[in-house]
Amino acid sequence: MNETAGYRESADSGYKAWLGYRRPESGRGGQYASWCTAVVSSEEHPLIQTAAAELVRAITALTGMTPQTGAASAAGEGPCIVIGTIPGGPPLLRRVFGVDTAGRTGADAAGQPGVGTAGPNGTNAAGQPGAYTAEQLGEEGFAIRYSEAEDCIAVGAARPAGVLHGVFHLLRLMAAGQPPAELDVLEQPSNRLRMVNHWDNFDGSIERGYAGRSFFYDDNRFLHDTERLRDYARLLASVGINGISINNVNVHRLETLFITELYLPDVAEMAAVFRAYGIRLFLSVNYASTLEIGALTTADPLDPQVQEWWKRKAEEIYRFIPDFGGFVVKADSENRPGPFTYGRNHADGANMLAEALAPYGGLVIWRCFVYNCKQDWRDRKTDRARAAYDHFKPLDGCFHDNVVLQIKNGPMDFQVREPVSPLFGAMEDTGQVLEFQITQEYTGQQRHLCYLVPQWKEVLDFNTCAAPDDAPVKRIIAGTLHGRQHNGIAAVVNVGNDANWTGHLLAQANLYGYGRLAWNPELGAEEIAEEWIALTFGGDERQVKVIRGMLLDSWRIYENYTAPLGVGWMVNPEHHYGPNVDGYEYSQWGTYHYADHHGIGVDRTVKSGTGYSGQYYSPVAELYESPDSCPDELLLFFHHVPYTYVLKSGKTVIQHIYDTHFEGAEQAAELVARWQQLAGEMEEGLYAQVLARLQEQAEHAKEWRDRINTYFFRISGITDQAGRTIY
Ligand code: GCU
Repeated sequence: MNETAGYRESADSGYKAWLGYRRPESGRGGQYASWCTAVVSSEEHPLIQTAAAELVRAITALTGMTPQTGAASAAGEGPCIVIGTIPGGPPLLRRVFGVDTAGRTGADAAGQPGVGTAGPNGTNAAGQPGAYTAEQLGEEGFAIRYSEAEDCIAVGAARPAGVLHGVFHLLRLMAAGQPPAELDVLEQPSNRLRMVNHWDNFDGSIERGYAGRSFFYDDNRFLHDTERLRDYARLLASVGINGISINNVNVHRLETLFITELYLPDVAEMAAVFRAYGIRLFLSVNYASTLEIGALTTADPLDPQVQEWWKRKAEEIYRFIPDFGGFVVKADSENRPGPFTYGRNHADGANMLAEALAPYGGLVIWRCFVYNCKQDWRDRKTDRARAAYDHFKPLDGCFHDNVVLQIKNGPMDFQVREPVSPLFGAMEDTGQVLEFQITQEYTGQQRHLCYLVPQWKEVLDFNTCAAPDDAPVKRIIAGTLHGRQHNGIAAVVNVGNDANWTGHLLAQANLYGYGRLAWNPELGAEEIAEEWIALTFGGDERQVKVIRGMLLDSWRIYENYTAPLGVGWMVNPEHHYGPNVDGYEYSQWGTYHYADHHGIGVDRTVKSGTGYSGQYYSPVAELYESPDSCPDELLLFFHHVPYTYVLKSGKTVIQHIYDTHFEGAEQAAELVARWQQLAGEMEEGLYAQVLARLQEQAEHAKEWRDRINTYFFRISGITDQAGRTIY
């Protein structure tokens, strides 16, 4: 650990993140005091015990008093908060949720609640609160209800995982000051799989990590920092995450051994910590394991020996971790091994692994980040943006049920602005997981403020037009459009061993927001920001107003002073931080802007370019095909235009570049001033750490401004209409 002792308890460090359970100054939350005197639960299930413990911890922090716990109050003596599964928990729960206790609990043969009197909001025809069906509650859903008659607040679910999610939700509502009498909630997650991907390496480094080093590993050993792991699991569970992959998708030599007896006991220990919070553990695996650790001479997926090896391997893994989630696989991508070596395709490769995992309910999460990373920059036909669709679309329908394809939100690589990947909606017979990047590789590396929730909302809401009615990405990954069983959402996470988890304190909002959106993509970016601010800082009105404004403006500000109009890249090679217009222009990675003295942009049209725009459904394809209808912010992604081309905004491309870069740098400077309004209104340590990052951002934004403006002024020879300083 790189921090001084005590940072875990300190209110200044940011370690407690949004689970600090600050005692509300304004009396909000105080209205719950009478029910907080007792927490009633009767089930032994570990998730319910976790939920009860969290509730006690929160109440103690919020009210200063320790509630009574146990199965008491069952006879009906309130006031209390009662939690559990409706069929198996305290009888009080069944009374609150309207299920009679005279032998007929409404449970069906499987022990799930099954009284079908529920209408919207759980009211029956007579307007009385009714019982929820098992279907309404689902595997992970929950109901929260206040009962005046029973003098209690009840959190009920069909399954233990739902109880845990429900408790965290109740705590959020308490913090938001929701009046107890109005509590009547029924929620189910939109996405079945809600996952974070770690790119942690065994040596303790984190690929694209910007918040210190790994707290899983160091120096090629497992750290077993159970306290930190548990606190992390709490953070994830509190926003509904239910899956975690613990190692980098680029699986190096030693990490390849994670699926062997040498390390499986360590992995199993980590799995146990996350299990107590309803989170299943996955591993990234090396596709060529049979060669590297299996003493075979091939990794050909159709070779019976290879198939047999993976079957035995799966059996072994499940002996150690009975609820193991499955494998994340980066194959034939950026020099990683894969089925191509043997003349096989991705379906052959993924299905072979899927067969090994199927008997245990495991998933193969197969990444679609497959492209030619050895491109000759002189070759203008090959287009990296096309690659995922070209590789995977022809394989639709060929994958086993327990294979899900993990697709990055855009066709390139987590740029500040990209179109949505055309693969969404294009594969009707294949499970799909959307991949976001919470870690800010191309969006300021947690030294700059960039609240990504608005960007993610645009992706989730994007109508792919894959069906005549509305076919947004959020419906495709929820499985409600094409009805696949395994779908969901994953994201490369932004945490490390920095005391505040995310380096930039305000970057915690991205982790929080990702989880909330994964659960419910209908939540607004603003709403999520407000929740997070209230939970993290205490929620004084002024704080909310200032920080919310900063968060909501930050993505656009970052875009303003970096790569313009969707063209992307323009960063320093390898580490990807800071401006370098030609950093990737003559390299092998397929990331070009083609700026010359006339114009800039990549022609991806069907008519005269790479044909990428034709990968979309109509009318999206036509929208992007023509520069007249292509949205300004994506113009240079789809078209090569002269600097004098007039945008829909009425400005020329070159003037847009100058204006946004001057404006963006000014806005970055204003972020400092906006934050300074909060001096003295929060713990000094929290205030100071954010201030330092914002000051650095403001300086660095000037560098971006001047490098970009100067480059385009020199190459185009066109002066700024406003006559500002360009070098
Ligand atoms: C990006 C990133 C790599 C990462 C890759 C991936 O290219 O820079 O570090 O390995 O994405 O998603 O696999």
